[in-house]
Amino acid sequence: MKKVTAKAPANIAFIKYWGKKDEKLRLPANSSISMNLSGACTTTSVEFDKRLAKDEFFIDGESLAVEERDRLSKHLDLIRKKAGLRVFAEVRSKNNFPKGVGIASSASGFAALTMAAAKAAGLGLSEKELSILARLGSGSACRSIPDGFVEWRTGKRSKDSYAYSLFPPEYWDICDLIAVVGEKEKKVSSTEGHALAQSSPFYRARIIGIPKKIREIKKALKDKDFTKFGEVSEREAINMHAVMMTSNPPLYYWSPQTQAVILAVEEWRDSGLEVYFTIDAGPSVHLICKSNGIAKVRKCLSGIMGIKRVIINYPAAGARFLTNGNN
Ligand code: PMV
Repeated sequence: MKKVTAKAPANIAFIKYWGKKDEKLRLPANSSISMNLSGACTTTSVEFDKRLAKDEFFIDGESLAVEERDRLSKHLDLIRKKAGLRVFAEVRSKNNFPKGVGIASSASGFAALTMAAAKAAGLGLSEKELSILARLGSGSACRSIPDGFVEWRTGKRSKDSYAYSLFPPEYWDICDLIAVVGEKEKKVSSTEGHALAQSSPFYRARIIGIPKKIREIKKALKDKDFTKFGEVSEREAINMHAVMMTSNPPLYYWSPQTQAVILAVEEWRDSGLEVYFTIDAGPSVHLICKSNGIAKVRKCLSGIMGIKRVIINYPAAGARFLTNGNN
């Protein structure tokens, strides 16, 4: 069978997904809004091969833990079932950014895997179907399928929980500078973290407040109101981390460097540089600014100790084929 290669971006959520209303189907407790990232991508090739006795995975040249292999094989099982296929696959995947430090490697990883494997299995799926399938691998992966600025509505059933594009990447010239503050993998994965969310006494309050935040951020996006957009995003990130830190057991994704960047952002803003932060399930800080602010933000970051590298991201297209299996 033909080998198919697909490339998918990671994404950063401004209104975040934390907690599920259906664990198995990965139905999120709330809707979320994100932007695809041009500088953080996964490229994955999949080939189903009758000669294989099991699925083989080569991810960034490293061997995978058993649980990771099982999770990927389970995802391939869904695709095999849809395609009526009983053949194992060889999967080769490369990330151009470090895994597990709060850049969504599972989002770009499962989006690229879904797209390449579905096509390699002979399925011709729509963007919506690919988004639903990617969601079953890792929730936020559904947002890496469509282009640019994206909304993922919760949905009541699996078939209506998918992401779609609100605006194409060229709609707004904002960017996300990721200050990578650690390259060690996090101890608690987001999958485990989601399951703890409801144990926080602040969980319900956060969920109740989400529809208003979604309305506000969508309006800010439509009006290109950067100040409002940044303020809502920043408050939302702190809110999600408050739930994480107050779950039982608590999840502390921040490191001292995370806190140092957060405090510096406030100072930079006071001195006239318009930049906001958001943080996912890891210590790295995403700094959101207009593209004419990149040089200044980089310079400011260079004054902070402990930043391993800075990844510059513009809004990006969603998942794409690099080869289509026809050649
Ligand atoms: O898709 P997951 O299980 O990796 O969860 C993503 C969780 C956050 O990155 C913290 C928030 C989000 O909406 O991306």
